[in-house]
Amino acid sequence: MLTVEGLECAYGEALVLRGVSLRLAPGQVLGLLGRNGAGKTTTLRAIMGLLRPRAGRIVLDGRDLGALRPYEIPRLGVAYVPQGRGLFPFLTVEENLRMGLLVRDGDRRRLEEIFELFPALRERLRQRAGTLSGGEQQMVATARALAADPRYLLMDEPLEGLMPLLVEALLGVIGQLRARGVGVLLVEQRIEAALRAADEVALMEVGRIRYQGTAAELANHPDVLQTYLGVRRDRRVGG
Ligand SMILES: Nc1ncnc2c1ncn2[C@@H]1O[C@H](COP(=O)(O)OP(=O)(O)OP(=O)(O)O)[C@@H](O)[C@H]1O
Ligand SMILES: [Mg+2]
Repeated sequence: MLTVEGLECAYGEALVLRGVSLRLAPGQVLGLLGRNGAGKTTTLRAIMGLLRPRAGRIVLDGRDLGALRPYEIPRLGVAYVPQGRGLFPFLTVEENLRMGLLVRDGDRRRLEEIFELFPALRERLRQRAGTLSGGEQQMVATARALAADPRYLLMDEPLEGLMPLLVEALLGVIGQLRARGVGVLLVEQRIEAALRAADEVALMEVGRIRYQGTAAELANHPDVLQTYLGVRRDRRVGG
């Protein structure tokens, strides 16, 4: 179980997270939705140890991550696909994937397992990551995170800019990870797609979780989406 309890984070004087609490179980997909600037990326960065919280705790299977260095957290099985993908554009696809292996001393056989999830990457291994399409880059970024064989995967707007076919492909991968017992924290702006992929959804507004429930519950409360996200459930917001 990955739990966040009463997390507060600030940039200088600006308090951006005002007591965020979340629970992510193995094999669960938790959607984290909210308007621009709500604090979604900040939450993920804090879990990864890239930002030191002002208050609150982040606990992985009973172990407090607060005292750990950023490089120790991926080794404990928490992987991160940052917003904007964070690839090394001048390195090839294969070199980017090898960076993922380094996190946990994984060997090349692990990449073979990953190609089962992303068969199209096999033909792209020698291409520089910066010359791939946006969708292909997202696949590489996700594959790189999975190279460390994580138990929890944090994804920051992975569907951004993907055409519908690739949205479905990535949702398919998320479904497979879920079936393998990986817990996925999915930050998304594409509400419809996120509601389809997620078991539970947390809605964030100015640094607080304002609503948490199952995706099915939320489907019966379109007013909640309207209030916190400014979208109507019946309008298709991408995917
Ligand atoms: N490095 C930083 N320095 C100062 N303020 C920051 C920094 N990063 C983010 N912020 C501010 O913190 C708030 C939350 O930002 P965050 O990136 O977590 O939002 P978000 O929910 O991920 O938004 P988006 O949907 O646009 O990605 C915003 O008001 C933002 O301007
Ligand atoms: Mg963000």
